[in-house]
Amino acid sequence: MALVRPVFLRGLWRSMRAGAGGKAPVIAGHKLLYRCNLECSMCPFWRREDEQLLSVDEEVRMMDSLARAGVSFLGFEGGEPLLRRDLPEILAESHERFHTSLVTNGWLLRNRIDDLAPYLDLLFVSLDGIGALHDRLRGIPGSFDRAVAGIRAVRGRVPLAISSTITRENMDDAEKVVELARRLGVGVTFQVAYNYSTADRMAPEGQKLRGTLERLLALKEAGAPILESREYFTSVVDSWYRGIPWRCKPWMTMNVDPQGRIVLPCYTLREYGGDTPVWDVDVRALWNSYDWGPYERCNKCALACYLEPSLFRWTSPTMIRERILDPIISYLDASPTPALTMVPT
Ligand SMILES: C[S@@+](CC[C@H](N)C(=O)[O-])C[C@H]1O[C@@H](n2cnc3c(N)ncnc32)[C@H](O)[C@@H]1O
Ligand code: SF4
Ligand code: SF4
Repeated sequence: MALVRPVFLRGLWRSMRAGAGGKAPVIAGHKLLYRCNLECSMCPFWRREDEQLLSVDEEVRMMDSLARAGVSFLGFEGGEPLLRRDLPEILAESHERFHTSLVTNGWLLRNRIDDLAPYLDLLFVSLDGIGALHDRLRGIPGSFDRAVAGIRAVRGRVPLAISSTITRENMDDAEKVVELARRLGVGVTFQVAYNYSTADRMAPEGQKLRGTLERLLALKEAGAPILESREYFTSVVDSWYRGIPWRCKPWMTMNVDPQGRIVLPCYTLREYGGDTPVWDVDVRALWNSYDWGPYERCNKCALACYLEPSLFRWTSPTMIRERILDPIISYLDASPTPALTMVPT
């Protein structure tokens, strides 16, 4: 199974052309709704009321605006995106335009994967610990077992990774999640929890977090299927523990709320509050007139969707190989990417 389709190459070309004319978003994230079937302690979104959601036609209008702006990767999330009945239609439209990914808590995955698999380039299933620890953080008993059953149902059909959020309660268990990923034969990606004003304050802190990040980096270097780059871990440790900031480029990632409104300057600082619908904005003009300067040294969050593109450098042969050449070669070879290789049950 190839990780990358021709749409990836077309998208890359679109992003490069847009970027040559100034700042342009390359990645977009979109919450399809806020409603959720779980109640995670660190998450503010399930606590929000949904307004009228976008129809499929309005989702398409949003996608066309994103493509015009230069976006090549579109990731869907929420709330719980699998609660939307029209998800297959939305993903099908995205799949024609973008490299398409989805993040789910996995509860409904086993029942819905047949309808979704044809339109996904990458799927993330959230798992924050093993068994009871995950269930406690997610607020609903049985959520660990449902997520693992979902992963087992998807393996071999869609490139798949566990998405794990590091909180002050599960910092010591990150290695167990890596081990689970290894046993299941999937990738794993980590993010550090951010303290949103309307959720429980679960962000990990202090030397203990540093230890977790350094242990994850060591595991990655020893061959564990951790998807973050080496630079992701070293940049967070350098900034938060050694006073050497990374240069954040929030303009490389655009987030769009469930009503199609752009979230500026970024997901975290605005706590996902949107302003103007993306189809009412000349994104290229806005991106090149907006004052991004104050955010360059912000370094408040370590969300990979902002940090990884911020760290990308055309002068780094390793980054060019890992993020551009390997996916292209895997497409040409029609062979799977090693970190996402599937193993049979
Ligand atoms: C908001 S959820 C939406 C998708 C789906 N409901 C899920 O849980 O996978 C997307 C990701 O955000 C993570 N997340 C939740 N609260 C967070 C926080 N306070 N800081 C960082 N990530 C968080 C979740 O663990 C999940 O992996
Ligand atoms: S993190 Fe995901 S599963 Fe948990 S409450 Fe938030 S939206 Fe729902
Ligand atoms: S580091 Fe700051 S500016 Fe950059 S994405 Fe995180 S919160 Fe936003």
